[in-house]
Amino acid sequence: MQEPMLDRAAQALGEHLPWRPEILIVLGSGLGGLADSPGKGVSVDFRGIPGFPSAGVAGHAGRFIAGELEGRRVLLQAGRLHLYEGHSPALVVAPIRVAARLGVRTVVLSNAAGGIDPRLSPGDILLLDDQVNFNWRSPLTGAVLEEEDRFPDMSAPYDPELQGLALDVAAELGVPLRRGVYAGVLGPSYETPAEVRMLRALGADAVGMSTVPEVVAARSLGLRTLGLSLISNHAAGLSPEPLSHQEVMEAGKAAGETFERLVRGVLARMG
Ligand code: HPA
Repeated sequence: MQEPMLDRAAQALGEHLPWRPEILIVLGSGLGGLADSPGKGVSVDFRGIPGFPSAGVAGHAGRFIAGELEGRRVLLQAGRLHLYEGHSPALVVAPIRVAARLGVRTVVLSNAAGGIDPRLSPGDILLLDDQVNFNWRSPLTGAVLEEEDRFPDMSAPYDPELQGLALDVAAELGVPLRRGVYAGVLGPSYETPAEVRMLRALGADAVGMSTVPEVVAARSLGLRTLGLSLISNHAAGLSPEPLSHQEVMEAGKAAGETFERLVRGVLARMG
């Protein structure tokens, strides 16, 4: 999506909102519970926003919900656009760019991921420390957009201060929170056991099909990011069970409450 369409999309979404949002929270597979909670929420379907398609995968509703959470003006994104749906990298990150145009400076990205680190079990939450782009493409190719960097620094893709807050909140809640590296792959097939061994050898702790393009776009815009993966399954080859999307969705629902408490705690402490 190019600059004029992004501007139109931001204007259309902004007209529905009671205020300018501070924080965007992208809800991963099965983690949509927060979307039902924000006080006085306004819901805007992707289909009502110029340039946005309707999201396609089961469990992805494709809408923004604006509401106050822990006293913060929050825009929630329920439903994501994925590269594996055939969307361009630029469209996948359109929600980030639109949110930034509306004033968002902080993005919380959640996702469901397969655990590669053998210490990770389904239901665990992983605090993202870093990422590897196995999409082999970037949302930043082509013309440089307003407010973006041609060559953004990626030495701290996830904000250390927000990570610290998440660790503090987790300790307070008694939620074990591991840290690790997220490998973003294209999908949509899950990995083979050989691919998982390769990802592990290359430094990945978890693998999923989202988040990486969004973090790249967010960093290019100078937004700070917090990344949380819900480990929905052992990555291929680490368990005798075959992988299924159903399992991923169910793990999201089971851990949804913990995830919500963690995010609320971070919002409450954010400066
Ligand atoms: N691989 C890739 N994406 C995923 C997985 C996985 O094992 N689990 C949830 N999303």
